[in-house]
Amino acid sequence: MPAQNAIPPVSQKISNIGVIGAGAMGHGIAQVFAQAGFHVKLNDVSLSFIEGGMKRIDSNLSRSVEKRRISDSQKMEIISRLSPTPDLADFSDRQFVVEAVLEKIDTKKTVFKKLDEVCSKSSILASNTSSIPITELAALVSNPGRVAGMHFFNPVPVMKLVEIVEGLQTSPETSATIRDLSLELGKTPVLVKDSPGFISNRIVCPMINEAIFTLQEGIASKEDIDTVMKLGMNHPMGPLELADFVGLDIVLDVLEVLYHEFQDPKFRAAPLLRKMVRAGYLGRKTKRGFYDYGAL
Ligand code: CAA
Repeated sequence: MPAQNAIPPVSQKISNIGVIGAGAMGHGIAQVFAQAGFHVKLNDVSLSFIEGGMKRIDSNLSRSVEKRRISDSQKMEIISRLSPTPDLADFSDRQFVVEAVLEKIDTKKTVFKKLDEVCSKSSILASNTSSIPITELAALVSNPGRVAGMHFFNPVPVMKLVEIVEGLQTSPETSATIRDLSLELGKTPVLVKDSPGFISNRIVCPMINEAIFTLQEGIASKEDIDTVMKLGMNHPMGPLELADFVGLDIVLDVLEVLYHEFQDPKFRAAPLLRKMVRAGYLGRKTKRGFYDYGAL
């Protein structure tokens, strides 16, 4: 007898979104949702941070107008779908919330506890974390089946991938809703069980780390290491450029998680990476990393 097809989980119809964090990832996430027609409330700890995010969205959209991908009036419509708010209590009407706050577990935990108080119990709560266990964040809220990872990639408007991260408690409906939302954003979703580094960072951060070891051992110059990966492997950026782009502190945080969670020395961070983070050379955001961005 042919096996019966399992009934696919029904996703929740979402029309409004909340994004917490207006930084490098959050502003891009808010932008892509607003572009896809969703009403988005954008929150951060202060109005000036939110204004910073709104400025970046404005400048991205202006570039699309210059390139004639959208008209000026479409740009204005997209912006009109974005409502800045510094008060998380305003998220009580949100059906779907994505947090993209600092990659620190205590900060994320505070946000999830607050969302549990403020949002309806049927709202879906997603995290854009690149390394923090979804299972641990889900355990903080009532109805933890509604929590999952929705991991975007930088720059969010350009990168086509979303990793949907299922914690131990994540319900099939929550995953299905994030899958459908990702498709509405024009992204390609992949499903991954909660595991250190998920798929992306488990692979890319050790690659970056190995490039840093190669540099530290004096085997080649930073430019040549990057050239090998760009011209030899067709990567858009070399691993050291990519480390500067992502942030050396983020790369180190992810490696620490991989090392501690797997208890495997293959994930030990290169001493040079640690030293650079200690010096505050975090990459583009501090204008200095493996390369100098003083003129940016
Ligand atoms: N925001 C919005 N759009 C951006 C952008 C940004 N920050 N940066 C670049 N773009 C757009 C440009 O406007 C340009 O668009 P048009 O084609 O419409 O002109 C397009 O991207 C290409 O940009 P450029 O021509 O300026 O430069 P490029 O061709 O070198 O591409 C890049 C830039 C897209 C960033 C490319 O170098 C690239 O893909 N790099 C690798 C990025 C990557 O690996 N990201 C993942 C990081 S890991 C992560 O995010 C997850 C994590 O958990 C750590």
